[in-house]
Amino acid sequence: MDALAALRLQIAWGADEALEEAPLDRLAAGARPRPAQATAAATAARPALPAPRPAAAPAIRAAGPPAHATPAHATPAHATPAHATPVHATPVHAAALRAQAAADAAHTLAELRAALAAFDGCPLAATATNLVFADGNPEAGLMLVGEGPGAEEDRAGRPFVGPSGQFLDRMLASIGLDRTQLLITNLIPWRPPGNRNPTDTEVLTCLPFLLRHIALVRPRRLVLLGALATRALTGGVTGITRMRGRWVEVTIPGLAAPVPALPMLHPAYLLRSPGAKRLAWADLVALRRTLDADVK
Ligand code: URA
Repeated sequence: MDALAALRLQIAWGADEALEEAPLDRLAAGARPRPAQATAAATAARPALPAPRPAAAPAIRAAGPPAHATPAHATPAHATPAHATPVHATPVHAAALRAQAAADAAHTLAELRAALAAFDGCPLAATATNLVFADGNPEAGLMLVGEGPGAEEDRAGRPFVGPSGQFLDRMLASIGLDRTQLLITNLIPWRPPGNRNPTDTEVLTCLPFLLRHIALVRPRRLVLLGALATRALTGGVTGITRMRGRWVEVTIPGLAAPVPALPMLHPAYLLRSPGAKRLAWADLVALRRTLDADVK
């Protein structure tokens, strides 16, 4: 871990004054017990999630079955609780079916990008300045998924370049990561006007492209930044504050095994909620430990 970057992050977060003679590990003092490295077993052992509220499952009905029923999707390698249906397992509407066909036809990242650029099924493409596809290293084995581009990302055509992106870069630097060691993308590749949250329909329409993106990259680990990305990929209905910091497994159509994913608080939320930075720090440390364990 880059100790200097970690110190810089603490200073950026406002922890710029020593109050005690000796350091105090507040994470150890206040933290609830959690496994050093959550695994598939931990996922299975999670307490049952409550039944979804209507808002949790987009109310869109399909004309037919999803075209994406690959064996991995049809027969998940892990037991996803029936009530925690990933968004991509729910019925889809016509634009999502078209998106799925376009995404399935892409066999490289360049083809996927071109397919997204040509896709006219999501109205957000018409109001956005640029398509925001991805940034970083697709070979790195670690893939981060955010929510959607903001104004700066829309202008630059790159994800996470605005204030929350710069903040994310500092968070990652604190555990020795930069964009050469990960790939970063978003649930939604076009900026929703006024930075509003994307609607369920927009999420469902864009999701086949994200799933294909993940399938083509084949990351060893995923990090899900924020509630929307977490809900879309895991189907979790308990909220990000309860899901964060625990590895869950995400079934990706076309991949033989589920991908371990770590939900984390979104950097934009952390900028607004300084009190939550302690939790974010715990999650960063957990991520670093898991990545280190992976290479041992
Ligand atoms: N927030 C996101 O979720 N993604 C971006 O690209 C920028 C801000």
